[in-house]
Amino acid sequence: MASFGSATKVISFLAIILLSLTNSSISESTYPTPTPWPPQFHSIMIYNTSGTLQINSLWYDYPKGRNFNIIQRQLGDHVYDLEWNNGTSFIYTLDANKKCQTLKFDVGILTPDFLHGAHYLGQRTMDGFLCNVWEKVDFIWYYEDVVTKRPVHWTFYNGMEGHLMTFEVGAVLEDAKWQAPVYCFESGEQADDSSQLNSIVDNSGPAEDLFKRKMLIQRLKEV
Ligand SMILES: *[C@@H]1O[C@H](CO)[C@@H](O)[C@H](O)[C@H]1NC(C)=O
Ligand SMILES: *[C@@H]1O[C@H](CO)[C@@H](O)[C@H](O)[C@H]1NC(C)=O
Repeated sequence: MASFGSATKVISFLAIILLSLTNSSISESTYPTPTPWPPQFHSIMIYNTSGTLQINSLWYDYPKGRNFNIIQRQLGDHVYDLEWNNGTSFIYTLDANKKCQTLKFDVGILTPDFLHGAHYLGQRTMDGFLCNVWEKVDFIWYYEDVVTKRPVHWTFYNGMEGHLMTFEVGAVLEDAKWQAPVYCFESGEQADDSSQLNSIVDNSGPAEDLFKRKMLIQRLKEV
């Protein structure tokens, strides 16, 4: 009886150890991870960069290797920022000024799993939604709704804050809308190398934003 009792004790002791080991390995491996982006979506976003506001209509289309930000600056220009996975980006207006800037980068668009390996920071309320929060390479802070797993908000290292107002999974912009205007291809238009961007960055908001996003993508891919 005595030996039976001590065997029971040993077993329950082992069980407790095993249980605590299992618990600790469970809690380590069950940190939430960011939900990969759907291959295609449309989001209307409000960006606030140090008090300067713009609305972005973001069309993400990974299967077709393209990403489009149609930007409305508050009481200002409509700017089209069209990025291809081959590294070419076109930034243009469709008004009488016929401005177009062609930029060439070493990296293409974000992959759906670009947040892989991000550092989990816990839960916070953002824009009124309880979110899981991750940070990656000190460039992006990403907020995802705990319940629906939809992105709610992201902040870039430069203080640019994006609030997602809609998130339409599977929405695709028709092909014709992805055609940069003819003046982007007229002779004399040359793709600027990203290493020579400094003067452009000084003069142009959208190019600066794009440059920073590309820097981000570059960094995200290096990790
Ligand atoms: C934009 O961000 C600034 C802080 O950078 C804040 O003071 C301001 O209230 C924000 N504006 C809006 C409309 O959210
Ligand atoms: C990248 O793809 C776009 C869209 O097909 C095209 O207009 C552009 O010329 C391409 N760039 C290069 C460097 O091939």
